[in-house]
Amino acid sequence: MYFLALESSCDETAAAVFTADRRVLANVVASQTDLHARFGGVVPEIASRAHLRNLLPVVEEALARAGITKSDIGCVAVHNTPGLVGSLLVGVSAAKMLALALGVPLVAVNHVAAHIYACRIAAERDIFPCLGLVVSGGHTALFDCESALSLQLLGGTRDDAAGEAFDKVAAILGLGFPGGPALEREAAFGNPTAYAFPRAFADDARLEFSFSGLKTAVLYACHGQNVGKGTPPPAGAKRADLAASFQAAVVDALVLKCKQALRKTGRVRLAVGGGVTANRALRDALQLMCEKEHAELFIPPFDLCTDNAAMAALAVEKWEASQFASPDLDAEPNFV
Ligand code: KG4
Ligand code: ZN
Repeated sequence: MYFLALESSCDETAAAVFTADRRVLANVVASQTDLHARFGGVVPEIASRAHLRNLLPVVEEALARAGITKSDIGCVAVHNTPGLVGSLLVGVSAAKMLALALGVPLVAVNHVAAHIYACRIAAERDIFPCLGLVVSGGHTALFDCESALSLQLLGGTRDDAAGEAFDKVAAILGLGFPGGPALEREAAFGNPTAYAFPRAFADDARLEFSFSGLKTAVLYACHGQNVGKGTPPPAGAKRADLAASFQAAVVDALVLKCKQALRKTGRVRLAVGGGVTANRALRDALQLMCEKEHAELFIPPFDLCTDNAAMAALAVEKWEASQFASPDLDAEPNFV
C-alpha cells in the first residue's frame, strides 16, 4: 500500500511517497527561495504560479525515487490547511484530480499537525500522547496532543510567528532572505547577553507568545527611535551581538513556555516541528530543559523540520480511522 502526498502551502512544492507502515520512500522538495529572495519575503502570486510549474515534475520525481508508478498508489494525501490560499489550491486541485483519476481515496491533512507528526516519522515509534510545539514562518503554537489526530491548542502567538520574527529581524540587520538560517550564522559570532531584549509573558503562566515587541526592540537598538528609510543596517560586532541577543530572546521564550506546558499538562514527551526547529541554539536549549524536566524530546532531522510532504504521513492515521476527504475538498487558509 503506497501513499502519495502533496504539499504546496507556502513556497515549497513537495511530494512524498510512503507506505502504510510509515516508511518514507521518497521526499522531494522544490524550493522557490530564489524567486522570492529579491522581494525579501514570499510573494503569494509568484508562489502559486511556481507551484503550478513545479508540482507534476515533483510528483514524477517522487514516484521515480520510490520506484513505483501511478498505478501503485493506493491513497492520495494533501495538506489543505493552513497556508496561502492560492498555493494550497494548487496542491488540493492536483490531489483531487489524481485521486479521482486513479480511483483511490483522498485524505486531507492539516499542515501544522503534520509538522508535529514529522517527529513520529523520524522516531519510527509512537510518540503520543505528547506536547507539541510548532515553530515555523507562519505559526508558533503549543498543543496538547492526546493522539496524532486529537490536538488541543494550548496557546499561540499574539502577533508574529517565531520564524517571521527571525525573517524580519534578519531584514533589519541586512542579512537577506530567508532570514532564519542567515541570522543563526551571524549569531554564532555575537554575544547573546549583549542586549537585554524582552521575553514576552515570562512572568506569567499564560502559554502564549509575542515576538512583535522584540522585533521593535531590535530595530530601536540598531538605529534609535528615529529610524528613517534608507538607514543602513549595523555591521561588525554590533550586528553579531544584536543577532545573538535576539536569538537568545526567542529561544528563551519558546523554551520557557514548553517547560510551563509540560508542568501544566503532566506530559512527559515534547515533539517539536517547523522550520525554526532547524536552529541549533533552540535544539540545544530544548534538550537541556527536557533533561531537567525528565521529559523526552523529539525533534526531526532538518529535511523533516522545514516544509515537506513526508510529514503528511499523518494521512496514514486518518486512513486507518477511515477519515477520508470528499471530492469537493477545499483549500482553507486559516487554521482549522
Ligand atoms: O516550516 P517552514 O519551512 O515553513 C512554514 O510553514 O512557515 O518554516 C520556515 C521558517 C522561516 O521563517 C525561516 O526563517 C525559519 O523557518 N528558519 C529558521 C532556521 N531555518 C529556517 N529560523 C531560525 N533558525 C534557523 N536555522
Ligand atoms: Zn510549515
